[in-house]
Amino acid sequence: MTSSGIRIERLTAADIPALVALARDTWFKHYPDIITTAQIQYMLAQRYSDDVIRAQLADPDVWWDKLLLDGELAAFAQYERSDPPGTLKVDKLYARHQLRGRGLGSTLLRHIEQAAREMGFARLKLQVNKNNVSAIGAYRKNGFEVAESAVFDIGNGFVMDDYVMIKELPALPREQCR
Ligand SMILES: CC(C)(COP(=O)(O)OP(=O)(O)OC[C@H]1O[C@@H](n2cnc3c(N)ncnc32)[C@H](O)[C@@H]1OP(=O)(O)O)[C@@H](O)C(=O)NCCC(=O)NCCS
Repeated sequence: MTSSGIRIERLTAADIPALVALARDTWFKHYPDIITTAQIQYMLAQRYSDDVIRAQLADPDVWWDKLLLDGELAAFAQYERSDPPGTLKVDKLYARHQLRGRGLGSTLLRHIEQAAREMGFARLKLQVNKNNVSAIGAYRKNGFEVAESAVFDIGNGFVMDDYVMIKELPALPREQCR
């Protein structure tokens, strides 16, 4: 996918070091007002270890995409088959801190939505911290609605106090045959 210097490609194992660096930078700039530093470190270790990402790259039900802006890694997303059946969960969506608000997140969400439709999924789902006001705003702008509020125990005494947001993907009207 290309548009004005933007390319979206599948992430590869060779991208992992740059991806982890971008995730760490984004998390430490964005999350200190939302969760503790100890929780940031715990969640980064849990979600962004080389082993975890490599296993996901080999998993047919998990997808990782990178967004390049003028050839540089600027944003990324990870999404996976989820419950109930027909659901694709957007598990990670991050744009470089200095590049937020320029449409990169929305571009990735549109790309994921198109992929979801092509693969036959009926809805997108995601979880977002209740205090992550900017991300909730961006998701609402992109058609997601809060479906429920839930606290998830993630171990070591930490919890994620989240909204679950859903975007239903009704079938698009078929073009008329001529
Ligand atoms: C959340 C995130 C992925 C969104 O990506 P982005 O590239 O910054 O967002 P976009 O530029 O595509 O903006 C999407 C829309 O949301 C809107 N928006 C952004 N912040 C908003 C806010 N606080 N309130 C209301 N709307 C908001 C934008 O105005 C835009 O709408 P528009 O196209 O009508 O102007 C990105 O900001 C990010 O990485 N944030 C930090 C990490 C994070 O919280 N990730 C999500 C974890 S669940």
